[in-house]
Amino acid sequence: MPPKRKRRRTKRESSPERSRIESLSHDGRGIARVDGKTVFVEGALPGEDVIFVRYRRRGSFDEGRMTQCLEASPDRVDPRCPSFGICGGCSLQHMAHEAQIRVKEQAMLENLKHFGRVEPEEILPPLTGPVWGYRRSARLGVRYVRKKGMVLVGFRERNSSFIADMEHCDILDSSVGGLLMELRALVGGMNAFMAVPQIEVSVGDEAGALIFRHLQPLEPEEEEMLGAFSEKCGLKVYLQSGGPDTVRPLCGEWGETLVYRVDHGRCGIFFRPGDFIQVNGGLNRQMVLQAMRMLDPGPGEHVLDLFCGLGNFSLPAARRAKTLTGVEGSASMVDRALKNAWVNGVDNAVFYTSDLNADFQSASWSDRRYHKILLDPPRSGALEIVRQMSVFRAARIVYVSCNPATLARDAGELVHNGGYRFTYAGIMDMFPHTAHVEAMAVFDR
Ligand SMILES: C[S@@+](CC[C@H](N)C(=O)[O-])C[C@H]1O[C@@H](n2cnc3c(N)ncnc32)[C@H](O)[C@@H]1O
Repeated sequence: MPPKRKRRRTKRESSPERSRIESLSHDGRGIARVDGKTVFVEGALPGEDVIFVRYRRRGSFDEGRMTQCLEASPDRVDPRCPSFGICGGCSLQHMAHEAQIRVKEQAMLENLKHFGRVEPEEILPPLTGPVWGYRRSARLGVRYVRKKGMVLVGFRERNSSFIADMEHCDILDSSVGGLLMELRALVGGMNAFMAVPQIEVSVGDEAGALIFRHLQPLEPEEEEMLGAFSEKCGLKVYLQSGGPDTVRPLCGEWGETLVYRVDHGRCGIFFRPGDFIQVNGGLNRQMVLQAMRMLDPGPGEHVLDLFCGLGNFSLPAARRAKTLTGVEGSASMVDRALKNAWVNGVDNAVFYTSDLNADFQSASWSDRRYHKILLDPPRSGALEIVRQMSVFRAARIVYVSCNPATLARDAGELVHNGGYRFTYAGIMDMFPHTAHVEAMAVFDR
Protein backbone atom coordinates (compact mmCIF):
# COMPACT_ATOMS: atom_id res chain seq x y z
CA MET A 1 0.00 0.00 0.00
CA PRO A 2 1.41 3.44 -0.81
CA PRO A 3 1.46 5.89 2.10
CA LYS A 4 -1.98 7.39 2.69
CA ARG A 5 -0.84 10.93 3.41
CA LYS A 6 0.35 13.43 0.87
CA ARG A 7 4.11 13.37 0.63
CA ARG A 8 6.50 16.12 -0.34
CA ARG A 9 8.05 15.28 -3.71
CA THR A 10 11.79 15.68 -3.88
CA LYS A 11 12.97 17.71 -6.84
CA ARG A 12 15.06 15.02 -8.46
CA GLU A 13 12.56 12.13 -8.41
CA SER A 14 13.06 9.89 -11.45
CA SER A 15 10.29 8.69 -13.71
CA PRO A 16 8.57 5.48 -12.52
CA GLU A 17 10.33 2.14 -13.12
CA ARG A 18 9.29 -1.45 -12.55
CA SER A 19 11.25 -4.12 -10.74
CA ARG A 20 10.99 -7.22 -8.60
CA ILE A 21 12.25 -6.89 -5.02
CA GLU A 22 14.95 -9.42 -4.17
CA SER A 23 15.46 -9.00 -0.43
CA LEU A 24 15.13 -6.68 2.56
CA SER A 25 17.84 -4.28 3.76
CA HIS A 26 18.89 -4.05 7.42
CA ASP A 27 16.75 -0.90 7.76
CA GLY A 28 13.59 -2.49 6.33
CA ARG A 29 13.70 -1.33 2.68
CA GLY A 30 13.19 -3.60 -0.30
CA ILE A 31 16.29 -4.24 -2.40
CA ALA A 32 15.99 -4.24 -6.20
CA ARG A 33 18.79 -4.67 -8.74
CA VAL A 34 18.24 -2.64 -11.87
CA ASP A 35 20.85 -2.77 -14.66
CA GLY A 36 23.46 -3.92 -12.18
CA LYS A 37 22.75 -1.17 -9.65
CA THR A 38 21.24 -1.72 -6.21
CA VAL A 39 18.16 0.35 -5.40
CA PHE A 40 16.77 0.53 -1.86
CA VAL A 41 13.00 0.89 -2.22
CA GLU A 42 11.00 2.17 0.74
CA GLY A 43 7.68 0.43 1.31
CA ALA A 44 8.49 -2.65 -0.82
CA LEU A 45 8.81 -6.24 0.42
CA PRO A 46 10.86 -9.20 -0.88
CA GLY A 47 9.24 -11.04 -3.80
CA GLU A 48 7.03 -8.11 -4.80
CA ASP A 49 6.68 -6.71 -8.29
CA VAL A 50 6.59 -2.93 -7.82
CA ILE A 51 6.65 0.44 -9.52
CA PHE A 52 9.07 2.82 -7.83
CA VAL A 53 10.73 6.19 -8.28
CA ARG A 54 14.32 6.99 -7.37
CA TYR A 55 14.74 10.04 -5.17
CA ARG A 56 18.44 9.92 -4.43
CA ARG A 57 21.37 8.75 -6.53
CA ARG A 58 24.64 7.67 -5.01
CA GLY A 59 27.79 6.03 -6.37
CA SER A 60 27.11 2.36 -5.71
CA PHE A 61 23.36 2.45 -4.98
CA ASP A 62 20.23 4.55 -5.39
CA GLU A 63 17.33 5.17 -3.06
CA GLY A 64 13.71 5.08 -4.08
CA ARG A 65 10.18 4.59 -2.86
CA MET A 66 7.42 2.33 -4.04
CA THR A 67 4.53 4.10 -5.77
CA GLN A 68 2.52 1.01 -6.71
CA CYS A 69 2.54 -2.64 -5.74
CA LEU A 70 1.66 -4.78 -8.79
CA GLU A 71 2.05 -8.12 -7.07
CA ALA A 72 2.02 -8.14 -3.28
CA SER A 73 3.98 -10.44 -0.99
CA PRO A 74 1.88 -12.83 1.14
CA ASP A 75 3.62 -11.13 4.09
CA ARG A 76 2.11 -7.72 3.25
CA VAL A 77 -0.48 -6.33 5.67
CA ASP A 78 -2.19 -2.96 5.92
CA PRO A 79 -0.14 -0.74 8.21
CA ARG A 80 -2.19 0.24 11.23
CA CYS A 81 -0.79 3.75 11.55
CA PRO A 82 -1.92 6.51 9.14
CA SER A 83 1.54 8.10 9.44
CA PHE A 84 3.30 4.91 8.26
CA GLY A 85 5.64 5.69 5.37
CA ILE A 86 6.20 9.23 6.61
CA CYS A 87 7.06 8.81 10.29
CA GLY A 88 10.57 7.48 10.87
CA GLY A 89 9.49 5.56 14.00
CA CYS A 90 8.42 2.33 12.25
CA SER A 91 9.62 0.84 8.99
CA LEU A 92 7.97 -2.62 9.00
CA GLN A 93 4.29 -2.05 9.83
CA HIS A 94 3.42 -3.23 6.32
CA MET A 95 4.86 -6.68 7.08
CA ALA A 96 3.04 -9.37 9.08
CA HIS A 97 4.51 -9.73 12.54
CA GLU A 98 5.57 -13.40 12.02
CA ALA A 99 7.44 -12.30 8.89
CA GLN A 100 9.17 -9.50 10.81
CA ILE A 101 10.43 -12.10 13.27
CA ARG A 102 11.64 -14.30 10.41
CA VAL A 103 13.60 -11.52 8.70
CA LYS A 104 15.14 -10.40 11.98
CA GLU A 105 16.35 -13.92 12.71
CA GLN A 106 17.77 -14.13 9.20
CA ALA A 107 19.47 -10.75 9.63
CA MET A 108 21.09 -11.91 12.87
CA LEU A 109 22.36 -15.14 11.30
CA GLU A 110 23.62 -13.41 8.14
CA ASN A 111 25.49 -10.82 10.19
CA LEU A 112 27.06 -13.55 12.31
CA LYS A 113 28.17 -15.39 9.20
CA HIS A 114 29.46 -12.42 7.19
CA PHE A 115 31.02 -10.21 9.88
CA GLY A 116 31.98 -12.80 12.48
CA ARG A 117 32.39 -15.99 10.42
CA VAL A 118 30.51 -17.81 13.18
CA GLU A 119 27.32 -19.83 13.51
CA PRO A 120 25.55 -20.80 16.73
CA GLU A 121 25.23 -24.51 17.49
CA GLU A 122 21.55 -23.97 18.30
CA ILE A 123 19.08 -21.19 17.53
CA LEU A 124 16.92 -20.08 20.45
CA PRO A 125 13.20 -19.64 19.76
CA PRO A 126 12.43 -15.95 19.18
CA LEU A 127 11.36 -14.12 22.31
CA THR A 128 8.23 -12.06 21.67
CA GLY A 129 6.17 -9.70 23.80
CA PRO A 130 3.63 -6.90 23.30
CA VAL A 131 3.72 -5.52 19.74
CA TRP A 132 1.61 -2.37 20.27
CA GLY A 133 1.82 0.21 23.04
CA TYR A 134 5.19 -1.25 24.02
CA ARG A 135 7.42 1.83 23.88
CA ARG A 136 7.90 3.06 27.44
CA SER A 137 10.82 5.35 26.74
CA ALA A 138 11.12 7.71 23.78
CA ARG A 139 12.21 11.17 22.71
CA LEU A 140 9.47 13.07 20.94
CA GLY A 141 10.44 16.01 18.76
CA VAL A 142 8.50 19.26 19.12
CA ARG A 143 8.46 21.98 16.47
CA TYR A 144 6.38 25.01 15.59
CA VAL A 145 5.65 24.80 11.86
CA ARG A 146 4.97 28.26 10.52
CA LYS A 147 3.27 27.04 7.33
CA LYS A 148 0.79 24.98 9.32
CA GLY A 149 0.51 27.61 12.05
CA MET A 150 0.80 24.93 14.71
CA VAL A 151 3.13 22.97 16.94
CA LEU A 152 3.78 19.33 15.99
CA VAL A 153 4.77 16.67 18.51
CA GLY A 154 5.99 13.26 17.37
CA PHE A 155 8.81 11.26 15.85
CA ARG A 156 10.96 12.61 13.02
CA GLU A 157 9.97 11.90 9.46
CA ARG A 158 11.95 9.26 7.60
CA ASN A 159 15.19 10.69 6.20
CA SER A 160 14.46 14.22 7.37
CA SER A 161 14.63 16.48 10.38
CA PHE A 162 10.93 17.42 10.06
CA ILE A 163 8.55 16.22 12.76
CA ALA A 164 5.86 13.88 11.39
CA ASP A 165 2.34 15.32 11.53
CA MET A 166 0.91 12.47 13.65
CA GLU A 167 -2.18 12.58 15.82
CA HIS A 168 -1.48 9.53 17.93
CA CYS A 169 1.06 6.72 18.15
CA ASP A 170 0.14 3.07 18.71
CA ILE A 171 3.73 2.12 19.46
CA LEU A 172 4.05 4.41 22.46
CA ASP A 173 2.84 3.27 25.86
CA SER A 174 -0.94 3.79 25.95
CA SER A 175 -0.61 6.42 28.69
CA VAL A 176 1.22 8.68 26.19
CA GLY A 177 0.35 7.46 22.66
CA GLY A 178 -3.06 9.17 22.66
CA LEU A 179 -1.80 12.45 24.08
CA LEU A 180 0.01 13.88 21.05
CA MET A 181 -2.78 16.32 20.14
CA GLU A 182 -3.05 17.48 23.75
CA LEU A 183 0.70 17.96 23.88
CA ARG A 184 0.53 20.02 20.68
CA ALA A 185 -2.14 22.23 22.23
CA LEU A 186 -0.24 22.49 25.51
CA VAL A 187 3.06 23.62 23.96
CA GLY A 188 1.22 25.72 21.35
CA GLY A 189 -0.47 27.64 24.17
CA MET A 190 2.81 28.52 25.89
CA ASN A 191 4.81 31.71 25.26
CA ALA A 192 7.82 29.43 24.85
CA PHE A 193 6.11 27.49 22.00
CA MET A 194 9.21 27.94 19.81
CA ALA A 195 11.62 27.07 22.61
CA VAL A 196 10.48 23.54 23.56
CA PRO A 197 12.36 21.21 21.17
CA GLN A 198 11.78 17.87 22.85
CA ILE A 199 9.60 15.91 25.25
CA GLU A 200 11.13 12.78 26.70
CA VAL A 201 8.85 9.94 27.75
CA SER A 202 9.70 7.56 30.63
CA VAL A 203 7.06 5.14 31.85
CA GLY A 204 7.30 2.71 34.75
CA ASP A 205 4.87 -0.04 35.82
CA GLU A 206 2.83 2.26 38.03
CA ALA A 207 3.47 5.80 36.81
CA GLY A 208 4.98 7.68 33.91
CA ALA A 209 6.76 10.98 33.36
CA LEU A 210 7.39 13.56 30.66
CA ILE A 211 10.52 15.71 30.59
CA PHE A 212 10.00 19.02 28.77
CA ARG A 213 13.29 20.36 27.39
CA HIS A 214 13.11 24.17 27.24
CA LEU A 215 15.58 26.62 25.73
CA GLN A 216 14.36 29.69 27.61
CA PRO A 217 13.18 30.10 31.22
CA LEU A 218 9.49 29.26 31.66
CA GLU A 219 7.16 31.78 33.22
CA PRO A 220 5.03 30.90 36.28
CA GLU A 221 1.84 30.71 34.12
CA GLU A 222 3.56 28.25 31.80
CA GLU A 223 4.59 26.08 34.74
CA GLU A 224 0.98 26.26 35.94
CA MET A 225 -0.22 25.03 32.55
CA LEU A 226 2.21 22.12 32.76
CA GLY A 227 1.04 21.37 36.30
CA ALA A 228 -2.62 21.31 35.22
CA PHE A 229 -1.71 19.03 32.30
CA SER A 230 0.16 16.70 34.66
CA GLU A 231 -2.89 16.46 36.95
CA LYS A 232 -5.23 15.83 34.06
CA CYS A 233 -3.22 13.14 32.26
CA GLY A 234 -1.74 11.52 35.37
CA LEU A 235 1.87 11.80 34.18
CA LYS A 236 4.56 13.51 36.26
CA VAL A 237 6.17 16.50 34.59
CA TYR A 238 9.87 17.32 34.72
CA LEU A 239 11.74 20.25 33.22
CA GLN A 240 15.14 20.25 31.55
CA SER A 241 16.83 23.59 30.90
CA GLY A 242 20.23 22.23 29.74
CA GLY A 243 22.15 18.94 29.81
CA PRO A 244 20.88 15.74 31.50
CA ASP A 245 22.01 17.03 34.93
CA THR A 246 19.53 19.92 34.77
CA VAL A 247 16.40 17.71 34.84
CA ARG A 248 14.20 18.67 37.82
CA PRO A 249 10.63 17.89 38.86
CA LEU A 250 8.13 20.61 38.01
CA CYS A 251 6.85 20.48 41.59
CA GLY A 252 8.75 19.71 44.76
CA GLU A 253 11.87 17.63 45.31
CA TRP A 254 12.96 14.51 43.44
CA GLY A 255 11.39 12.31 46.12
CA GLU A 256 10.02 9.06 44.75
CA THR A 257 11.12 7.88 41.32
CA LEU A 258 9.63 5.53 38.75
CA VAL A 259 9.83 1.76 39.05
CA TYR A 260 9.44 -1.37 36.93
CA ARG A 261 9.59 -4.98 38.10
CA VAL A 262 11.46 -8.01 36.74
CA ASP A 263 12.15 -11.59 37.84
CA HIS A 264 8.48 -12.51 38.46
CA GLY A 265 7.99 -9.22 40.32
CA ARG A 266 10.73 -10.03 42.83
CA CYS A 267 13.06 -7.16 41.81
CA GLY A 268 11.92 -3.54 41.64
CA ILE A 269 14.17 -1.43 39.43
CA PHE A 270 13.80 2.22 40.43
CA PHE A 271 14.83 4.85 37.91
CA ARG A 272 14.66 8.54 37.16
CA PRO A 273 12.97 9.94 34.06
CA GLY A 274 15.56 10.05 31.30
CA ASP A 275 17.61 7.09 32.63
CA PHE A 276 18.28 4.27 30.19
CA ILE A 277 15.64 1.55 30.53
CA GLN A 278 14.93 -1.27 28.07
CA VAL A 279 12.27 0.13 25.73
CA ASN A 280 9.74 -2.72 25.79
CA GLY A 281 8.75 -3.54 29.38
CA GLY A 282 6.92 -6.80 28.61
CA LEU A 283 9.74 -8.11 26.47
CA ASN A 284 12.29 -7.00 29.06
CA ARG A 285 10.62 -9.14 31.71
CA GLN A 286 10.99 -12.18 29.45
CA MET A 287 14.51 -11.23 28.40
CA VAL A 288 15.68 -11.05 32.01
CA LEU A 289 14.18 -14.49 32.73
CA GLN A 290 15.80 -15.97 29.60
CA ALA A 291 19.13 -14.40 30.56
CA MET A 292 18.85 -16.00 34.02
CA ARG A 293 18.03 -19.40 32.47
CA MET A 294 21.03 -19.08 30.18
CA LEU A 295 23.40 -17.69 32.80
CA ASP A 296 22.11 -20.11 35.43
CA PRO A 297 24.13 -18.55 38.27
CA GLY A 298 24.83 -21.10 41.01
CA PRO A 299 24.86 -20.28 44.74
CA GLY A 300 28.64 -20.73 44.82
CA GLU A 301 29.37 -18.63 41.74
CA HIS A 302 30.78 -15.15 41.20
CA VAL A 303 28.97 -13.33 38.38
CA LEU A 304 30.05 -10.23 36.45
CA ASP A 305 27.43 -7.96 34.79
CA LEU A 306 29.07 -5.54 32.33
CA PHE A 307 27.21 -2.41 31.12
CA CYS A 308 24.87 -3.08 34.03
CA GLY A 309 22.92 0.22 34.00
CA LEU A 310 20.40 0.32 36.84
CA GLY A 311 20.87 -3.37 37.68
CA ASN A 312 18.21 -4.81 35.34
CA PHE A 313 20.10 -8.12 35.09
CA SER A 314 22.36 -7.64 38.13
CA LEU A 315 19.72 -7.91 40.83
CA PRO A 316 18.09 -11.11 39.50
CA ALA A 317 21.59 -12.61 39.03
CA ALA A 318 22.66 -11.57 42.54
CA ARG A 319 19.64 -13.39 43.99
CA ARG A 320 20.91 -16.64 42.49
CA ALA A 321 24.70 -16.23 42.76
CA LYS A 322 27.24 -16.04 45.59
CA THR A 323 28.34 -12.55 44.53
CA LEU A 324 27.47 -10.15 41.73
CA THR A 325 29.77 -7.45 40.41
CA GLY A 326 28.18 -4.83 38.17
CA VAL A 327 30.22 -2.43 36.02
CA GLU A 328 28.84 0.60 34.22
CA GLY A 329 30.21 3.80 32.65
CA SER A 330 27.73 6.24 34.14
CA ALA A 331 28.38 7.12 37.78
CA SER A 332 24.77 8.16 38.34
CA MET A 333 23.51 4.81 37.05
CA VAL A 334 25.95 3.02 39.37
CA ASP A 335 24.57 5.10 42.22
CA ARG A 336 21.04 4.01 41.28
CA ALA A 337 22.08 0.37 40.89
CA LEU A 338 23.54 0.45 44.43
CA LYS A 339 20.31 1.91 45.79
CA ASN A 340 18.28 -0.65 43.87
CA ALA A 341 20.31 -3.44 45.46
CA TRP A 342 19.71 -1.94 48.89
CA VAL A 343 15.95 -1.40 48.36
CA ASN A 344 15.60 -5.00 47.13
CA GLY A 345 17.51 -6.44 50.10
CA VAL A 346 20.35 -7.64 47.86
CA ASP A 347 23.53 -7.60 49.95
CA ASN A 348 25.93 -9.62 47.79
CA ALA A 349 26.24 -7.10 44.92
CA VAL A 350 28.92 -4.47 44.35
CA PHE A 351 28.96 -1.90 41.55
CA TYR A 352 31.81 0.02 39.91
CA THR A 353 32.06 2.91 37.49
CA SER A 354 34.47 2.11 34.63
CA ASP A 355 34.84 2.98 30.98
CA LEU A 356 34.58 -0.43 29.36
CA ASN A 357 36.02 0.84 26.09
CA ALA A 358 39.35 1.39 27.82
CA ASP A 359 41.97 -0.98 29.18
CA PHE A 360 40.43 -2.13 32.47
CA GLN A 361 43.17 -4.43 33.71
CA SER A 362 44.16 -2.11 36.57
CA ALA A 363 40.54 -1.76 37.81
CA SER A 364 39.97 -3.49 41.16
CA TRP A 365 36.94 -5.45 39.90
CA SER A 366 39.01 -7.02 37.10
CA ASP A 367 41.53 -8.66 39.40
CA ARG A 368 39.58 -11.86 40.06
CA ARG A 369 37.93 -14.84 38.47
CA TYR A 370 34.25 -14.83 37.50
CA HIS A 371 32.37 -18.05 36.81
CA LYS A 372 29.78 -16.42 34.55
CA ILE A 373 29.63 -13.08 32.70
CA LEU A 374 26.67 -11.19 31.26
CA LEU A 375 27.26 -8.20 29.01
CA ASP A 376 24.75 -5.81 27.45
CA PRO A 377 26.71 -3.14 25.58
CA PRO A 378 25.38 -0.17 23.59
CA ARG A 379 25.15 -0.34 19.77
CA SER A 380 28.90 0.07 19.35
CA GLY A 381 29.39 -3.34 20.98
CA ALA A 382 32.18 -4.43 23.30
CA LEU A 383 35.28 -5.22 21.26
CA GLU A 384 37.73 -3.95 23.88
CA ILE A 385 36.16 -6.01 26.62
CA VAL A 386 35.82 -9.22 24.63
CA ARG A 387 39.48 -8.94 23.62
CA GLN A 388 40.42 -8.94 27.31
CA MET A 389 37.73 -11.42 28.40
CA SER A 390 40.01 -14.45 28.77
CA VAL A 391 41.52 -13.02 32.00
CA PHE A 392 38.28 -13.87 33.84
CA ARG A 393 38.28 -17.53 32.74
CA ALA A 394 34.46 -17.53 32.77
CA ALA A 395 32.80 -20.82 31.83
CA ARG A 396 29.82 -19.07 30.22
CA ILE A 397 29.20 -15.66 28.65
CA VAL A 398 25.71 -14.33 27.90
CA TYR A 399 25.82 -11.43 25.44
CA VAL A 400 22.71 -9.23 25.02
CA SER A 401 22.96 -7.15 21.86
CA CYS A 402 21.03 -4.34 20.18
CA ASN A 403 23.17 -4.39 17.02
CA PRO A 404 23.70 -7.61 15.04
CA ALA A 405 26.76 -6.22 13.23
CA THR A 406 28.74 -5.53 16.42
CA LEU A 407 27.45 -8.75 18.00
CA ALA A 408 28.82 -10.63 14.97
CA ARG A 409 32.22 -8.90 15.21
CA ASP A 410 32.47 -9.58 18.97
CA ALA A 411 31.23 -13.18 18.59
CA GLY A 412 33.97 -13.72 15.98
CA GLU A 413 36.55 -12.43 18.45
CA LEU A 414 35.30 -14.70 21.27
CA VAL A 415 35.25 -17.77 19.02
CA HIS A 416 38.33 -17.27 16.83
CA ASN A 417 40.66 -15.70 19.42
CA GLY A 418 39.04 -16.17 22.85
CA GLY A 419 38.66 -19.95 22.90
CA TYR A 420 34.86 -19.95 23.29
CA ARG A 421 32.25 -22.15 21.62
CA PHE A 422 29.22 -20.37 20.24
CA THR A 423 26.41 -22.35 21.85
CA TYR A 424 23.14 -20.43 21.33
CA ALA A 425 21.76 -17.33 19.65
CA GLY A 426 18.25 -16.01 19.29
CA ILE A 427 16.44 -12.80 18.53
CA MET A 428 14.24 -10.87 20.94
CA ASP A 429 11.42 -8.71 19.62
CA MET A 430 12.23 -5.59 21.61
CA PHE A 431 11.17 -3.16 18.85
CA PRO A 432 8.23 -4.61 16.87
CA HIS A 433 7.45 -2.89 13.52
CA THR A 434 10.94 -1.40 13.34
CA ALA A 435 13.98 -2.95 11.73
CA HIS A 436 15.98 -3.00 15.00
CA VAL A 437 17.28 -6.44 15.88
CA GLU A 438 17.89 -7.33 19.53
CA ALA A 439 19.57 -10.67 20.20
CA MET A 440 20.98 -12.89 22.93
CA ALA A 441 24.05 -15.03 22.33
CA VAL A 442 25.66 -17.60 24.61
CA PHE A 443 29.30 -18.71 24.60
CA ASP A 444 30.88 -21.59 26.53
CA ARG A 445 34.37 -22.70 27.30
C1 LIG B 1 22.12 -1.26 26.46
S1 LIG B 1 22.35 -0.39 27.98
C2 LIG B 1 22.16 -1.72 29.10
C3 LIG B 1 21.83 -1.36 30.52
C4 LIG B 1 21.36 -2.50 31.41
N1 LIG B 1 22.09 -3.72 31.20
C5 LIG B 1 19.88 -2.73 31.25
O1 LIG B 1 19.48 -3.86 30.89
O2 LIG B 1 19.09 -1.82 31.52
C6 LIG B 1 24.05 -0.09 27.90
C7 LIG B 1 24.65 0.51 29.14
O3 LIG B 1 26.06 0.68 28.88
C8 LIG B 1 26.50 1.89 29.46
N2 LIG B 1 27.69 2.29 28.71
C9 LIG B 1 27.77 2.87 27.50
N3 LIG B 1 29.05 3.05 27.13
C10 LIG B 1 29.81 2.56 28.14
C11 LIG B 1 31.21 2.46 28.34
N4 LIG B 1 32.09 2.90 27.44
N5 LIG B 1 31.66 1.91 29.49
C12 LIG B 1 30.78 1.45 30.41
N6 LIG B 1 29.44 1.53 30.27
C13 LIG B 1 28.96 2.08 29.16
C14 LIG B 1 25.32 2.84 29.35
O4 LIG B 1 25.38 3.85 30.34
C15 LIG B 1 24.12 1.88 29.55
O5 LIG B 1 23.75 1.83 30.90
